[in-house]
Amino acid sequence: MTSDVGALDPTRLKELFDLRSGVNEHSGAAYHDDPYPVWHRLREAAPVHRGIVHELTGFAGPAAFQGLPHPEREHFSAFSYAACDAAFRDETVFVSSESAADGRDFEHGIEGPQSSILYMNGKEHRRYRGLVQPSFVPPRAKWWMDNWITTTVHALIDNFAAAGRADLNTDFCAAIPTLTITGSLGIPAAQALDLRASMIPGAIDTAVFAGIVAPAVASRREQPGDDLLSVLVEAELTDEDGVHHRLSDAEIMSFAYLLLVAGSGTTWKQMGITLAALLARPKVLDAVRADRALLRPAIEESLRWTPTDPMFSRYVARDIDFHGMSLPRGSVLHLCIGAANRDPARWESPDDYDPTRPARAHLGFGRGPHVCLGTHVARAEMAVGIGALLDRLPNLRLDPDAAPPRFIGMYERGATEIPVLFG
Ligand code: HEM
Repeated sequence: MTSDVGALDPTRLKELFDLRSGVNEHSGAAYHDDPYPVWHRLREAAPVHRGIVHELTGFAGPAAFQGLPHPEREHFSAFSYAACDAAFRDETVFVSSESAADGRDFEHGIEGPQSSILYMNGKEHRRYRGLVQPSFVPPRAKWWMDNWITTTVHALIDNFAAAGRADLNTDFCAAIPTLTITGSLGIPAAQALDLRASMIPGAIDTAVFAGIVAPAVASRREQPGDDLLSVLVEAELTDEDGVHHRLSDAEIMSFAYLLLVAGSGTTWKQMGITLAALLARPKVLDAVRADRALLRPAIEESLRWTPTDPMFSRYVARDIDFHGMSLPRGSVLHLCIGAANRDPARWESPDDYDPTRPARAHLGFGRGPHVCLGTHVARAEMAVGIGALLDRLPNLRLDPDAAPPRFIGMYERGATEIPVLFG
């Protein structure tokens, strides 16, 4: 595949992906502090608190995410590794589907990710997730790299290699996952930013979204190809009565919506967090440059140290005493994986970014039945992306005359910008 990255307008990229531009306003982009000292204090006081993560952290602005806002429900938040891990694993009590917690059927066909696997439960979740799971297993990472990731990464570097400087946050980190997912859905690079713009929470334009995705679905129905959209079009779902059927256009669109939301915003920001962490520590960066076997641990450590989405949530399906707190049925339990990933009960010096620390599983990709479907794609994008920067841009370093990257945001955390020089 040839990557048409020239189709991406850099100014528009900045508008759509600069965290200070308000794109993540809905999830608390106005939060600019370091939440970790507060999360340490909360965890030390109790593993589970009454209240919502952002309010307990001291952020009063609007912040919506999975499990929020729901003013009609009671809210609790877990901060220890043990509590978050246990809740992720137990899908009989801690459910992703609001309707399952309330004893109602899942509502298919509503617009947006709410009708996707992220919000399904139990058997229904397994049936739908199983349709695409084979495209996301570790051996398929090569398919993603060969078809979309590697070409895109090198074409993006070609764009700025001669300039001697770049803002890696938007020019590079944001563009890679956007083009990977749109490419896998058969959507041309020229439409990738229009699609992104149609999905900004608060300004969602379903007509524009459908206008771009529906023709791609129709063309794959006519002539399947070697991409993820064709996998979705050809997938056969077996329903509760054993009847097989293909996914409807609405089901495919909600899968595509989820993959675009879950797959582009996250990887972009996590790659930026990893690069910013490395660039701020030149000795660690040199060590990774010299020994590429350290690159994967550097990426995993960034997912532990500062996971881009530090909270996911579950609805409580029955009354339960949980880690010292009584949770009533119908309440929401927010799992602060950011705090869990720095639990000193599990990691020594948890605030240090240290890729050489002994590897232990973290919660950056979640855990249990909903564990991130795109784990291996995300890892591949970050490893190919950062590896290529190190190969191609000698003496890559932060621009000493520019403001250094800062991490901002409440529920979608990422770097402000990553101004670098090279050569
Ligand atoms: C570094 C990047 C990423 C991070 C940190 C991340 C994180 C997560 C987490 C924590 C969950 C669990 C949510 C829950 O339990 O409610 C999740 C689910 C999911 N992720 Fe990712 N993700 C990343 C990249 C991707 C990519 C690249 C894709 C697709 C290509 C993707 C697709 C999904 C999907 C479809 C789900 C829902 C799975 C389910 O409900 O069964 N993610 N992700």
